[in-house]
Order: sequence, then C-alpha cells, then structure tokens
Amino acid sequence: MGGVRLSDVVARCGSPTYVYDLDAIVREARELDAAFGPQRHLVCYAVKANSAAPIVRALARIGFGADVVSGPELLVARGCGIEADSIVFSGVAKQDAEIDLAIGAGERGIEAISVESVEEIGRIDARARALGRMARVSIRINPGLEEEAIDTHSHITTGHDEAKFGVPKADLGSALQSVTKARHVDLVGISSHIGSQLTDTASYVESALSLFALAAEIKKSHRLSFVDAGGGFGVDYGQGCPARPADFVRLACNAMATFGLGDLALYVEPGRALVAAHGVLLARVIQRKVSGARRWLMIDAGMNDLIRPALYQAHHRIVPIEELEGERARWRVVGPVCESSDDFGEHELPASEALQLCAVLDAGAYGYTMASRYNGRALPAEVFLSEGAIVAHTTRAEWRDWVDDRLKT
Ligand code: LLP
Repeated sequence: MGGVRLSDVVARCGSPTYVYDLDAIVREARELDAAFGPQRHLVCYAVKANSAAPIVRALARIGFGADVVSGPELLVARGCGIEADSIVFSGVAKQDAEIDLAIGAGERGIEAISVESVEEIGRIDARARALGRMARVSIRINPGLEEEAIDTHSHITTGHDEAKFGVPKADLGSALQSVTKARHVDLVGISSHIGSQLTDTASYVESALSLFALAAEIKKSHRLSFVDAGGGFGVDYGQGCPARPADFVRLACNAMATFGLGDLALYVEPGRALVAAHGVLLARVIQRKVSGARRWLMIDAGMNDLIRPALYQAHHRIVPIEELEGERARWRVVGPVCESSDDFGEHELPASEALQLCAVLDAGAYGYTMASRYNGRALPAEVFLSEGAIVAHTTRAEWRDWVDDRLKT
C-alpha cells in the first residue's frame, strides 16, 4: 500500500492498526476540487470521517476547509492549519462553550455556524452579544424528502421529516424573522445535508435544487455569500456505487447555474469520499473454528475498532495482505468482542493456516473516529504513508491504561 509492505507495518506497529495513504487522499481531493470547474467554491472536509492530524493537515495544505460538529473537532481543524473563515460548524445541540469557540475563532469567527433550529438563533445571538462580536450563521434546511427516496441506510439519512436535523422548510420564514431580529447574527449562507453514503445522485440533486430555489428567494432580502449543498458522496465498498464523488459536484454546479446564483460560492461537505478507500484496518488471525460446514475466522480487530458492520450492516472486503497460493474457503470473519454483531460477514479467503494477516478494506472513514475501548480493548494504532514510507504513526494504547482508568475511581 502506497509503496510500503503492510507486513512491515504490522511488524513495527502491531495489530489491529489503521493505515492511511496520504498521497492517495490528496489525489482524491484534487480530483474532487477540479470537478467544480470555474465555479467559486470551498470544499469543507467533514472531519468526523477521519480527524487524524496528518490527513487534516494534508487537506489544509491544498486549500480545503472543514465541516466540524463539535468544539474538539473545531480545535483539531484549527490546529491543522485550517483558517477560521474556512470552517462551518453544524450540530443540533451545540453547547454554549462550543458556540463561543466558533464565534471567537480568528478575526471574525468561523465562516458559519449552521443553525439547526429556529430556537438556536436566539442562543447564538446572546452568545455573540456577550462576546461583543457578530456571529456568522447559515440556516441548515431540512428539505423534507421522502425517507425512502434517500438511497442509504436509515441510520444515516438526515433530510426527511422524522430526522432531528435542520430547519424544516415550513419554519424557514420564522428562522429568517429571527435572524433579522437578532442584532448580533449575520446570515451568510444556507446549507443542507440529507444523508451519507449516497450511491445515487438523484436525492442529492433534488435537495440541491430545493436549496438553490430558496437561496434565490432569500437573496432578495439578505446578503448571502454561499450555498452549502452538504456531503454524503458515496463510495464503492465492493457492492458498486454508480455515482462518483465528482458527479455530485458537477450536477450541483450545473443546477446552481440555472438559478442565477453566480455571485455565490458553492460549498460542499464530503468526508467519506475523500478518505474511505485510502485506509485499511490490519488484523491478525487469532483463532480458527471449523464446525460442520461453518468455518469461523476470529481476528484481533473487532466492532470496537470498526463499528460500521455492527451498526449499519456494512460489508467491508477483507483480503490477505500477502499473495497466498492454494485452496480458498468461505470464512465467516468475526472479532473478539462479546457481541454477536461483532461480525465482518462472509469472505472468500485462503483455507490454509498460512493466512495470518489480513486487511479490512475501505476503512479510512468512520473507522478510528468511531472506535471505542469496549471490553477493555485498546484503541488501534494509526500509520500514515507518503512517498513509499511511513511518515507518522501512533502506538497502540497499553492494556494497562484502561485498567488504570477503571480502577481510579
Ligand atoms: N455534513 C454533515 C452535516 C454531516 O452530518 C455529515 C455526516 C457530513 C457532512 C459528511 O458526510 P459524508 O460525506 O462523510 O457522507 N458513521 C456513518 C456516517 C455518518 C455520517 C454523519 N454525518 C458511517 O460510518 O457510515
């Protein structure tokens, strides 16, 4: 991977370990950026997908902004060199301390706090007044699409009436009134994000069209500077993904042109599409169990390291990290955690005991960031590759750290 032997990575850092190819992430990012053509734009990388500093720094260096959902994510983005005026901040329950951080960042606060309810506007106004600053906000619109029309897992759809996210279109009028009344709030944009891992562009385009139509209206009474069509660009986990990340961008640019919004910038908030394919989770085979026709392969990575299969029934391909000749078998690959959902599904892998090390593919997004220490397990190490070498790595936490933590109260 990236010119480095993964067995050397395991020898140096152990397992389970996440490995990321920084150069491939930058290539992916540049390709997405190029899809905007002449459209003025900002790609706000959704830090929640992977908040590792070498990745965020690499994206900062090529001019990307950040989409953050918490104070800590905001501080990581700033610490990695992303300017305050390239950061947008969404979240349905932002704490006062987080709002203060956003308003207080840089010369004039972050680019925009995405407000997710009419009620939040008053709170932001009060915080800005207390800090003696103006808060720049965008209204996150919930376009109220049919839930079934958003082609992804129900846990990660956000743009429908049953979701807690965004201001319903019906409440946009009162949101605009509140913003107009709020003396310390500047409305600078409107935004939307309907869900993640969209494998088809249809619902994204539907939401973008509805967002742009609203922007054209709001523009008559407010000085907007951007529209933010959100993230959600799907990737191919091995089951196919007809839409490429650049397709979402091209379609959004085309749609924008038809609404006469040429003076506004287009923002997008992709996370997964930039990093998923360029990270793997390395694991070691711990135990085999063959019982009748069932062949279990127990590995040292579990749902605490990568929760996507357990939480969203996601299937990640698993491959040996070295070429192994000989017969193959269907293995049910599972982790060590005491839950039946700690299950990576069925995989065609070498039958013999020569299979010792494997890689869980497409684990660069929502892997480490969702990892936990459940069952007293250590958080995995992370390794960063560039130009054929390991350029940074962390070490795995010690067992003892968790034991000490549990014993300290
Ligand atoms: N913007 C907002 C407001 C979001 O809530 C999200 C993701 C994104 C952008 C980035 O979405 P992306 O481009 O990465 O699809 N843990 C789940 C995904 C949760 C996504 C949450 N919000 C998974 O592993 O599939």
